[in-house]
Amino acid sequence: MRKFIIAASLVSLLAPALSAAQPADDALREYEQAMNLTPNHENGKKVYKICAVCHTPEGWGLESGAYPQVAGQLSTVLIKQLSDIRARNRDNPTMLPFTSPQLLGGAQEIADVAAYISKLPMSPYNGVGPGNDLVLGERLYKDNCVECHGEHGEGILDDHIPLIYGQHYRYLLRQFEWIKNERRRNADKKMVKQIHGFTHRDIRAVLDYVSRIKPPKEKLAEPGWRNPDFPKFARPANLHSGAGYSIDKRPPRPTRP
Ligand code: HEC
Ligand code: HEC
Repeated sequence: MRKFIIAASLVSLLAPALSAAQPADDALREYEQAMNLTPNHENGKKVYKICAVCHTPEGWGLESGAYPQVAGQLSTVLIKQLSDIRARNRDNPTMLPFTSPQLLGGAQEIADVAAYISKLPMSPYNGVGPGNDLVLGERLYKDNCVECHGEHGEGILDDHIPLIYGQHYRYLLRQFEWIKNERRRNADKKMVKQIHGFTHRDIRAVLDYVSRIKPPKEKLAEPGWRNPDFPKFARPANLHSGAGYSIDKRPPRPTRP
């Protein structure tokens, strides 16, 4: 009887661990599949149509950080995040339905769209933080992030470590907090450990610093650039204008006539 209870409680202890491993395994399988395919850039453009609705045709997302900038991200990172999101190894309820095989396709389409997105030039107007604690931010970055995200936030292609420079501040903030409190299941365990002791002030300071690292010239779009692959896409006038909401640049209040 005692043995049975021990066995039964072992099973109930192991069961959640086993089912939690499933999405990670599925995601890894798809990642490896997509990585071994030759991407088709033209088809990537077609696939990107459904993504443009949220991430915008330019791939710049919104300065508010509600949608991240994906333009210019490393292809390996895009493939990994797409595989994770659709295998539910990273929760993204807004985007999940658009990653179904019916809408997105298979590993080939993931490879194609990742190739297309990684070549899009980045926004010259990403959302930045308040800018009042950058000395601390820089020091924290140099001491805690360089090893993985690189000297300038450029990431590491072969290790699918994200490029983080030029990303919207509020998106960085949300992801960092989710990684820290282990809500983002695909997070890097070593990163979680590294940022364990970060205070609220540290987090804001380091991400403000990151959001202000300008991407190198060859990755950056000219101000006013619009993706010529989407000539008919209706864009609100203030989209990507630099006037959208960010913490230090709230849009002006409408004045009464
Ligand atoms: C309905 C809106 C929507 C659509 C359509 C959509 N996404 Fe997303 N996507 C999001 C949101 C919201 C997030 C950020 C979620 C979060 O905060 O964790 C996101 C995150 C991502 C990320 C992770 C970025 C990062 O750096 O962490 C990638 C990559 C991505 N999307 C690619 C795509 C691709 C490719 C498509 C088209 C196949 C697509 N998305 C379609 C809303 C959308
Ligand atoms: C040990 C390596 C490591 C260290 C140190 C590290 N990171 Fe990360 N970080 C990663 C990896 C790997 C990911 C992507 C995890 C995944 O696959 O989803 C990531 C993801 C992120 C993301 C989410 C990016 C996105 O587009 O979704 C942010 C933001 C981030 N890191 C910021 C930082 C900052 C700031 C520091 C320093 C305070 C830091 N990281 C330290 C490895 C690291």
